[in-house]
Amino acid sequence: MVNIGKIELPDFPLLLAPMEDVSDPPFRALCKEQGADVVFTEFISSEGLIRDAVKSTMKLDIYEKERPVGIQIFGANLDSMLQTVDIVEKSKPDIIDINFGCPVKKVVSKGAGAGILKDIDLMVSLTEEMVKRTHLPITVKTRLGWDDKSIRIVEVAERLQDVGCKAISIHGRTRAQMYKGNANWAPIAEVKNNPRMHIPVFGNGDITSPEKAMEMRDKFGLDGAMIGRATIGNPWFFKQVKHYFETGEHLTPITLQERVEAARRHLQMAIDWKGEILGVFETRRHYTNYFRGIPHFKEYRMKMVTSDDSASVFNAFDEVLDKFSNHQFE
Ligand SMILES: Cc1cc2nc3c(=O)[nH]c(=O)nc-3n(C[C@H](O)[C@H](O)[C@H](O)COP(=O)(O)O)c2cc1C
Repeated sequence: MVNIGKIELPDFPLLLAPMEDVSDPPFRALCKEQGADVVFTEFISSEGLIRDAVKSTMKLDIYEKERPVGIQIFGANLDSMLQTVDIVEKSKPDIIDINFGCPVKKVVSKGAGAGILKDIDLMVSLTEEMVKRTHLPITVKTRLGWDDKSIRIVEVAERLQDVGCKAISIHGRTRAQMYKGNANWAPIAEVKNNPRMHIPVFGNGDITSPEKAMEMRDKFGLDGAMIGRATIGNPWFFKQVKHYFETGEHLTPITLQERVEAARRHLQMAIDWKGEILGVFETRRHYTNYFRGIPHFKEYRMKMVTSDDSASVFNAFDEVLDKFSNHQFE
């Protein structure tokens, strides 16, 4: 069993990674149904929340069916982060996660996200004060270091644990790498092998197959896997990994019917959550992934991504079911 504070999780839990514009309530619900043990919101700006920016506030919406759920926040200013903890608490998440790993310039230039990897003392003190502020478990998601020359993740993880951080998820890349090259899991295993570590250490980066997840568990000995890109358009990834762990075999490919059903539910949940216009608009980005690999699909995709009303999109789903019923997915 793996624990994040008082939250009990199964052995080697699978976590849905926070992903901007992807891990919203409809997508999190689909992943949860398919076996995700913990889900996270996309990162939410502490400054945006304090200004009460509508877009940031909407990101706080969470639903009972997705628990345990973590709300992820980012920022570098202590006062703002503490105010943010107070705001986030009102949404009653199970976990508050701090993003100390986002590599994008507009975040890093303000000292937030991976920017804080240049100031480990600040990283630790922010975490400490946030832990003191709330009864909720505070967790951290970060990268190996700023660049190759500054990988001190073993020491960093230990210091975060010592100030009360309840779990750490580590993306096996440095900030300098952005998303390039391969994720390096060896330093994450070093964190786990530190005899002083007792909080869960979750590995992240490039888990693209059930075999990779197994390698992270058996070869690198980590406590769980946080999975991002492999789930986009494939919320079944969690089920595929768990099936492989249990049987050593791959699940049969996801059928067209299952894909259409997921796309339909995704759209319906999005409309229920944010209304017809935004629901139709913001679900568009997912269709390519749900239907990847179907030849001569363009006409149908265009209908899905250009229609302004949900009835036309639902209609396109029906047509796809009709037209491609013989397509074999890999
Ligand atoms: C579209 C996208 C959005 C992301 N947004 C966030 C985010 O909001 N917070 C965060 O901590 N990481 C974010 N990440 C990074 C992922 O959580 C994860 O660390 C990274 O993709 C590596 O894992 P993977 O190889 O399983 O995708 C994002 C990644 C992608 C691809």
